[in-house]
Amino acid sequence: MTTGGEVTVPDLMLSLKSMRLKAKMTQEVFAKRLAVSRQAVSKWENGQSYPDISMLPKIAALFEISVDELLNYRSDNLRHTQYEELYKCDGYYWGSKIRSIAREVLGLMPPTRKVNVLEIGCGEGQAAIFFARNGYLVDAFDIAEAGLRKGRAAAQSIGVPVNFFCANLLTYQPDRKYDIIYSSGTLQYIPPSERADVMRTIQDATKIGGLNVLDTFVEKSFIRIAPDWEQGKEFFWKSAELFSYYAADWKYELIKENYFDCNSGGVHHRHCMNALIARKVV
Ligand SMILES: C[S@@+](CC[C@H](N)C(=O)[O-])C[C@H]1O[C@@H](n2cnc3c(N)ncnc32)[C@H](O)[C@@H]1O
Repeated sequence: MTTGGEVTVPDLMLSLKSMRLKAKMTQEVFAKRLAVSRQAVSKWENGQSYPDISMLPKIAALFEISVDELLNYRSDNLRHTQYEELYKCDGYYWGSKIRSIAREVLGLMPPTRKVNVLEIGCGEGQAAIFFARNGYLVDAFDIAEAGLRKGRAAAQSIGVPVNFFCANLLTYQPDRKYDIIYSSGTLQYIPPSERADVMRTIQDATKIGGLNVLDTFVEKSFIRIAPDWEQGKEFFWKSAELFSYYAADWKYELIKENYFDCNSGGVHHRHCMNALIARKVV
């Protein structure tokens, strides 16, 4: 797993290609706008060379992001996401409806004994509180303090214990094993080059017989990118990619590809998600 503060060339190359594709620019157009050759762009994207440092502000400006974002920079102070501001709204930015994948957990592993849950990217805390209200022991983290504050206040007001804490999912190493690891709408913040490491961490931190309950946004050519998608920080998964991490030693309890409407950012759009519930068998 990557430690904080480093920028790797593969990360940069990956960002460049994926951002160019998301901006629907060909290599030719991209090269022309930077006044370089198409071959130079191709070499950057293939990792054979990388742009001169003087090009970075121009490239960042082209994608309307900062140079830090272009470099996928992470500091030990954790990465800032737009949710630090968005969660300051009144009420819940994501609404208060509990996702169906969270409800599935009640049937698959009811808390008839002590069942501990780790939620990754808990946002404003609705799912964590839902689990705690139903009798699970819940640790839940997010990178956005504003969401954690909301979660803590809501949990306190109804008197349910939830251990909310701030952590970066790219570097966090659980210090115990969990019966259930749950994450909804967050795994797209893992750059593809770091997915194998993060998925291994999640799986290693799951008890035998435990569940991974996960969903993530999937790229479809026929679905437009949401207005509040954080370019350069969020990375679509490929269809079925999530399932591929669970092919051997895990039993699928649910695998699903679903489509839904969304109005976040104030503009109607659609999403495609892959959802998975897998049980650790060995
Ligand atoms: C789309 S929201 C989903 C929130 C919540 N799971 C839900 O279903 O409402 C994505 C969440 O991931 C969090 N996030 C983004 N990058 C993160 C990181 N590196 N570590 C931990 N949380 C992160 C964001 O702050 C945000 O709360």
